[in-house]
Amino acid sequence: MAISKTMSDALNKQFNEELSSAYLYESMAADFYAKNLSGFAVWMTAQASEERIHAQKIHQFLDGNGERVFYAAISEPQAEWKTPVDAIKAALGHEKFISKCIHDLVRMARKEDDIATESFLGWFVTEQIEEETTAQALIDKLEMVGDNRMGLYQLDKEVSTRVENNGG
Ligand SMILES: [Fe+2]
Ligand SMILES: [Fe+2]
Repeated sequence: MAISKTMSDALNKQFNEELSSAYLYESMAADFYAKNLSGFAVWMTAQASEERIHAQKIHQFLDGNGERVFYAAISEPQAEWKTPVDAIKAALGHEKFISKCIHDLVRMARKEDDIATESFLGWFVTEQIEEETTAQALIDKLEMVGDNRMGLYQLDKEVSTRVENNGG
């Protein structure tokens, strides 16, 4: 069964949301680099790479179903965050927005009785749980550290070990 025009348009919108997520996280990484928090910068760069993998997954799904992706304009992301915890809180807020987008897509697939798309989106539903958990865990650590500069230095070292995982 082919994907409907509505569903294909909505998946295209999500494709661009994923790319715009990558753009936001690259901007956060740039801010961290500028503030000599290179560990957080590495972490955010890995996060951005995962978002591009998410976009690729949608790209491949659409291609595999006789559809295609269209690149839309990406708005300029915020360039600076007052503190690391402000940045990660913004990242969590963004992930919550993305989770909502994914859930809306699942609802649309169900409404259209599009079982293939619903099944495809299942991966994203699970991924979003992980995304929110990871961001929240980092916020908890940053709040634990508070104003302790030595703690921030240590945490920056700790998060620098993050590597991109292949599954995205
Ligand atoms: Fe994503
Ligand atoms: Fe994400």
